[in-house]
Amino acid sequence: MSRDRKKELLAAARRARNRAYAPHSEFRVGAAVLGARGGIFAGCNVENASFGLTCCAERSAIFAMVAAGEREIREVLVIGDTEDFLSPCGACRQVIAEFAPPSAGVHMCSRSGASRDVTVSELLRFPFRLKKRS
Ligand code: THU
Repeated sequence: MSRDRKKELLAAARRARNRAYAPHSEFRVGAAVLGARGGIFAGCNVENASFGLTCCAERSAIFAMVAAGEREIREVLVIGDTEDFLSPCGACRQVIAEFAPPSAGVHMCSRSGASRDVTVSELLRFPFRLKKRS
């Protein structure tokens, strides 16, 4: 991914993080997805008083992508407000794997914007699949 693209994803994820609804954990997260057709879709975590209903930033961004008509992820970037890089939870890894080829990039950022970069297949080696991919 080009440096400019990474900057765009980082800015979109930070903007979304500013809109996070996290009154219960106070742990604000933003994510941005680059779709295969070049669109950028952002999301934040949205919590609920019934904690299990919370949606992570990564899934919010992916669901916004699907609602906009894109179905393929090229890159994902996630940022919280942590000194160490933020690693997506298991549920989000499975949702990422549904829409991304194994070689897609995942950029796990620390608050500075420095990232640890891996592929989707490194993030989730054996995703669940209902059917073989055609
Ligand atoms: N969270 C995310 O949004 N993404 C992650 O990768 C990890 C966790 C959110 C869920 C919850 O609102 C808060 O962070 C604390 O778990």
